[in-house]
Amino acid sequence: MSVHAEQKSWSVPQLAQARDAGRRLTMLTCYDASFARVLDDAGIDLILIGDSLGMVVQGHDSTLPVRVDDIAYHTAAVARGAKHALKIADFPFGSDATPEQAHAAAVRFIQAGAAMVKLEGAGHKLETIRFLVEREIPVCAHLGLTPQSVLKMGGFKVQGREQSAAERLRADALAVAEAGAALLVLEGVPAPLAAEITAASPIPTIGIGAGPGCDGQVLVLHDLLGIDTGHRKPKFVKDFLAEGGSIAGAVRAYTEAVRAGTFPTSEHSYA
Ligand code: KIV
Repeated sequence: MSVHAEQKSWSVPQLAQARDAGRRLTMLTCYDASFARVLDDAGIDLILIGDSLGMVVQGHDSTLPVRVDDIAYHTAAVARGAKHALKIADFPFGSDATPEQAHAAAVRFIQAGAAMVKLEGAGHKLETIRFLVEREIPVCAHLGLTPQSVLKMGGFKVQGREQSAAERLRADALAVAEAGAALLVLEGVPAPLAAEITAASPIPTIGIGAGPGCDGQVLVLHDLLGIDTGHRKPKFVKDFLAEGGSIAGAVRAYTEAVRAGTFPTSEHSYA
């Protein structure tokens, strides 16, 4: 029987309640209805229809070629498969360049079945966060190693190592929450800095390559299943298929490890 048999669907206010209750949040990326059903039945809290689909589904070298149509299409598919997990749709590169553009894309994602949208960065994006939240669209922010900045960063590099960069990250984390974001993904950030940001953050944080001190964790589904996508695997990735024994077992093993605080460890974190 599904772990959700008697549980209602996740809502946005429940994210803060989970944090207050000390319950770690589990998130995975997903792009289709069948995997969404497996994730939902295994008790995943949050499903991200990430623009990582450009790299793990479409075979590109970065997330930059992904279009709004792609995210809307995959969000609709995931929404047909997952009824309980909270679905978060990712703005692809360029689609959130202005508040108005972001709003047009977000309406498509919400109508496709998402309950929240995710955008990368702070700076001029703060205005977009405010614009969306004022128009009843919940927002997840994403800071640190933001893959859409790959050209500017010169690769996928851990962020916040230098003192000035760490200070900017601390300030940006507070600013996105102040602008109205309800959730914050921290990617590729040294574990002590992510823990410090989490302790100061008024909203829950979800880490990926950000150590064990966040309020929850996210992994790309293909990485959790050990699928060779043709890209280098970062150190924060763990293949859960071996210990899980099946796809559903791998998702359950991940969920249990995140909730128990046994994943990630220092082995999967940056110092
Ligand atoms: O697109 C994605 O999968 C993401 C996660 C890596 C957080 O943004």
